Amino acid sequence: MKEIIVTLAPKTAGNTIITSNLALAHQWRCPQKRIGLWQISSVPDLAVLMGILPKRDFGALIPFYKTEEWHPGLIDKILQKSGIDLVFSPVLMQWNTVSEPFFRDLLKMLSEPFDCLYIDLDRGLPEWVIDFVLKAATQVLITVTVESLMSDRMKIWNQKYPVMREKGQMILNQITKSEQSDIKKYFKHSEVDLLGMLPPDKRKVWHQVYEGIPVMMQKKGDLAKGFDQLLESLICSRSNLNLDPQKR
Ligand SMILES: Nc1ncnc2c1ncn2[C@@H]1O[C@H](COP(=O)(O)OP(=O)(O)OP(=O)(O)O)[C@@H](O)[C@H]1O
Ligand SMILES: [Mg+2]
Repeated sequence: MKEIIVTLAPKTAGNTIITSNLALAHQWRCPQKRIGLWQISSVPDLAVLMGILPKRDFGALIPFYKTEEWHPGLIDKILQKSGIDLVFSPVLMQWNTVSEPFFRDLLKMLSEPFDCLYIDLDRGLPEWVIDFVLKAATQVLITVTVESLMSDRMKIWNQKYPVMREKGQMILNQITKSEQSDIKKYFKHSEVDLLGMLPPDKRKVWHQVYEGIPVMMQKKGDLAKGFDQLLESLICSRSNLNLDPQKR
């Protein structure tokens, strides 16, 4: 079974920063595996955060859909590499050209060559996209800060997408050492598991946002160690869920 790890933030909380670094950490920890990262967004910013110029996004494959040229080799035309295989998203204005059948078949084709595909899913997309991607996910990671965890938006999302409770695990971002024990206590009574916590690091994140150098590619600090720990927890939780192909 292919793994599709979908990450989502009901409110801006560092989802793209986390997904990009987690996917990189995963690729480096498992060099024999092929890990991909696909941003599905109305305001795509992954190329900026990975420090590369986007050549094409997945919308460039639309003209080939339902023609004799539609085959798995096509995805090489939209992949770009920066430590990991990346697929970019069209901007919101172009989303009305993305049909449901195209998107469904694209997800199938795209997840094929990868052992594990990370999807950074934007909450601002049409509902059918969010629904479909969440259903296709083998794991859902929900990125929150303390503030967004307590927000009404979080309650609305939990009600609207029950799959977030069923398959979801939380990542708490920008948590200081002094906040950690309260967070752990809170999650003892929560329906959703806590996957891990990440510390704030404005400087390291600044270099990624403004210079396109992912945190994992900078001199190692607490945030990069946090990504490694998060990956460990993800791998453990996966084997508990019996998703790890090596354990089956
Ligand atoms: N660990 C961190 N330490 C310090 N600042 C952070 C951290 N994580 C995220 N940020 C801040 O949050 C901002 C948003 O990060 P990011 O774009 O990854 O969030 P997002 O949830 O993907 O947002 P969007 O809703 O736009 O998709 C960053 O530009 C940065 O200022
Ligand atoms: Mg984002």
